[in-house]
Amino acid sequence: MSEPGGAAGLPGSDHRRGGRVTLVGGGPGAVDLLTLRAWRALQSADVVVADRLGAVGVLDDLPATTDVVHVGKTSGNHPVPQEEINRILVARARAGAHVVRLKGGDPFLFGRGGEELIACREAGIEVEVVPGVTSAVSVPELAGIPVTHRGTAHGVHITSGHGGLDDAAVAVVRENTATLVILMGVSSLSTIAQQALRAGTDPATPVAIVENGSTPAQRVTRTRLDEAAAAAAAEGVAAPAVIVIGGVAADGLLGSVRDGRLAGAGV
Ligand SMILES: C[S@@+](CC[C@H](N)C(=O)[O-])C[C@H]1O[C@@H](n2cnc3c(N)ncnc32)[C@H](O)[C@@H]1O
Repeated sequence: MSEPGGAAGLPGSDHRRGGRVTLVGGGPGAVDLLTLRAWRALQSADVVVADRLGAVGVLDDLPATTDVVHVGKTSGNHPVPQEEINRILVARARAGAHVVRLKGGDPFLFGRGGEELIACREAGIEVEVVPGVTSAVSVPELAGIPVTHRGTAHGVHITSGHGGLDDAAVAVVRENTATLVILMGVSSLSTIAQQALRAGTDPATPVAIVENGSTPAQRVTRTRLDEAAAAAAAEGVAAPAVIVIGGVAADGLLGSVRDGRLAGAGV
């Protein structure tokens, strides 16, 4: 039944509220790492604007009437510019739809969720944010790496490795004041390691690189700082991956990990 003044005629539109946007954090990839709130938002969406990373498997479980728009980016290749994504969100919401913007991990951690929220608010569109399970913590965790651990690391510094490290990140590894977690760092790993070594970091500092966390393709490469670039090249490490530098990345800190599950670690 349509109501006066609503976006009548658009299947599934929320005529009473008008259009709106929900920015949803989809977690690292496994569908069962979506939150219940994220799942509910997806089930009630008229339109889902989806990334390449994250819980894309959930797209197969949407109602048949849900319109899915793919805007996923690959490294160095941005098929749909951010401004165009913003425009799609605003236009579809203005047409009366509940638009879910499904993003990898958490929308506000290197997710450009803030920019999308601002674009919607400036256009007068109601926006809700659903936090997601970020890869920065969950991907190391699934490989048996706690980003903090009593006696080993009592802080964590999360940064982008795109193009190398900034001074603050270099200081963290050199001084060993916290675990350094690097997203988007695979193609710059050699630069990152050289920066840290040149700054005086212990060459034996443990490094773990976790690819495709939470998916069947999850793989962990353990190495040390001065061997990290060679080890990654030898193993054919590729994005998406989370790089962890610091004592928590040492092999066997919590016990062994098999298929993303801790085995015999008693945790
Ligand atoms: C643009 S950032 C988005 C991060 C996201 N907002 C989050 O909170 O996880 C993309 C980077 O996240 C990391 N990443 C995301 N999902 C991953 C996964 N399943 N396994 C390994 N790394 C992942 C990689 O470093 C990738 O290059």
